Amino acid sequence: MEVLIKESYEEMSKQAAEMIADIVRRKPRAVLGLATGSTPVGTYKELIRLHKEEGLDFSKVTTFNLDEYVGLQHDHPQSYHYFMAENLFNHININPKNTHVPDGTAKDIPAFCQTYEEWIVKAGGLDVQLLGIGGNGHIAFNEPGSSLGSRTRVKTLDEKTRQDNARFFKNMDEVPKYAITMGIGTIMEARQLILLANKESKAAAIAQTCEGPVTAMVPATIVQLHPKATIIVDKAAGSKLSREYPAEPHILVVS
Ligand code: PGA
Repeated sequence: MEVLIKESYEEMSKQAAEMIADIVRRKPRAVLGLATGSTPVGTYKELIRLHKEEGLDFSKVTTFNLDEYVGLQHDHPQSYHYFMAENLFNHININPKNTHVPDGTAKDIPAFCQTYEEWIVKAGGLDVQLLGIGGNGHIAFNEPGSSLGSRTRVKTLDEKTRQDNARFFKNMDEVPKYAITMGIGTIMEARQLILLANKESKAAAIAQTCEGPVTAMVPATIVQLHPKATIIVDKAAGSKLSREYPAEPHILVVS
């Protein structure tokens, strides 16, 4: 597991975008696992810039998003379908048919979750999964206590998560109580993980994720067991780490 501490949110975002762009350049049919929330917005901005200014080509790329609220229509401004369209898909040359966000309006949600898993396998598996982290250490909507081997399923959101996300809704009553989320086991099958965190409010969760014991009580700690994981943080999110970490990734030259 590699931990990088960047000067700023912009530097963190650029690093993540460059790593994703590198995968897409090497493998035009790459399968990208994407995330929502405020954290990855800068990464998506940089990917859009790379597409517009440097011709980064998404025409053959497939994407799978981590999660979606149950009950929100796809055009609801707080749905993750809407978020992805606004923040990335509408600005790059991706084929909408190749983009997948869990369907929180599905009639039979357990059956949908099973199908979502099958789609990922059929697409060849995730080449990379981008992750944010909750202040409580969740990844996607896998809240503390989630099985570390879990698969895509419905989860009840923690009160803390609902409060954290309430800023996006008119009032607490409007914040959904349930979400469909990829499981921790699903996420761990991605060939590469990139976990991002910025701001002081993530510092404790990042310290536990990088330096604490692996525990279901802090789901992000599972990343320690992944063979190819990079955690990229800004100074504030890295402020509670006890060891020293570099700003740049190791460059491995294989001759
Ligand atoms: P945020 O959420 O990017 O909006 O901070 C991250 C998360 O809860 O996973």
